[in-house]
Amino acid sequence: MVTVNENYLKLRGSYLFSEIGKRVSAFAAANPDKKIIRLGIGDVTQPLAPAIIQALHVAVDEMGAAESFRGYAPDLGYEFLRKTISEQDYKARGCQIEPDEIFVSDGAKSDSGNIQEIFGVQNRIAVCDPVYPVYVDTNVMAGRTGVFEEQRGLWSNVIYMPCTAENNFAPELPKETPELIYLCFPNNPTGAVVTKDVLQEWVDYANKVGAVIIYDAAYEAYITEDNIPHSIYECEGARTCAIELHSFSKNAGFTGLRLGYTVIPKELKRQDVMLHSLWARRHGTKYDGAPYIVQRAGEVVYSEEGQRQVKEQVAYYMKNAEYIRTHLQAAGFSVSGGVNAPYIWMKTPDSLSSWQFFDKLLQDANVVGTPGVGFGPSGEGYFRLTAFGRFEDTVEAVDRMTKL
Ligand SMILES: Cc1ncc(COP(=O)(O)O)c(C=O)c1O
Repeated sequence: MVTVNENYLKLRGSYLFSEIGKRVSAFAAANPDKKIIRLGIGDVTQPLAPAIIQALHVAVDEMGAAESFRGYAPDLGYEFLRKTISEQDYKARGCQIEPDEIFVSDGAKSDSGNIQEIFGVQNRIAVCDPVYPVYVDTNVMAGRTGVFEEQRGLWSNVIYMPCTAENNFAPELPKETPELIYLCFPNNPTGAVVTKDVLQEWVDYANKVGAVIIYDAAYEAYITEDNIPHSIYECEGARTCAIELHSFSKNAGFTGLRLGYTVIPKELKRQDVMLHSLWARRHGTKYDGAPYIVQRAGEVVYSEEGQRQVKEQVAYYMKNAEYIRTHLQAAGFSVSGGVNAPYIWMKTPDSLSSWQFFDKLLQDANVVGTPGVGFGPSGEGYFRLTAFGRFEDTVEAVDRMTKL
């Protein structure tokens, strides 16, 4: 008899976004004349930059000619892209990451979900609370998280690191010792960042206890302040304890094209085994690489013209972030994030729960955001707004909110 992977049966339903969808659809059906503005989802809205479109066209033509056609990509990704990443994302920042330590992929969601496969099932994970749900759910699928405790809203075998207003939404070192630590800065959902000194403490801690940090830098391009690290490898000792994930989704609008990369330094070993070798084996066995045309599009992101164009897009979103943050603050709301990240994390007014505020905002302002509790119990009483919308819509949404 076929049996199913019972770990999948433990998964919680994708309650958050399906519930949001249900409530918004019901409201729209009952109020067809209302213009609903969505500041809920973390997807970009600006079209791909002209330099990227141009690179795609050229690469498509190459694929149509026998002499320039490309079939399967090399396991780690094309050298032209890995070399560019090594030089511009790392060596230019003083981080010694070589092209053959970079694995090109179809994005940070897959990598952040798949990376746990190279670790033993007994390893305990530590995650921030609130957290990007992929880190936890993929460990549930692997059987690493224990049972879900309904009352607390937490998994019994996961170490949670609460991120609250008291600690500026930056986690403290865990009291119990984890084997795997997921960190994401700039953070989704809170928009929080940590300074280089604070990140250095995490690196020192991981090296001391033998843990591995899985560092998600998907929002690195949104950093505006000095002294906020763009890569964990800016910290001394990170090569022996950290894996870093990157995405082209939010810096260059590749959410529909799909491109990302993961860095595993060759010094990073556990039980005398190079994690690089395990990930290379996994990559080679289960994955055939991001498409050639997409890797060419990724390469042009680093060109002078590409950089100018994608930075303009990031600036566009950050103008939204600033508008949301400053106007909500001026109206008396308590907000954080939005300075080094495209997310604004607001305290719900009048002690409303996250879902009560969601309903109120939908009914009274016809604005959709994301209830903070959907990212973990410490998100209760908070609400996430994104800066990825059109500026005019963002202004209108915020103006409606401030008149509530
Ligand atoms: C923290 C974080 N990591 C990874 C991703 C996914 O990135 P990608 O589009 O490269 O899969 C997201 C997307 O919202 C995210 O918020």
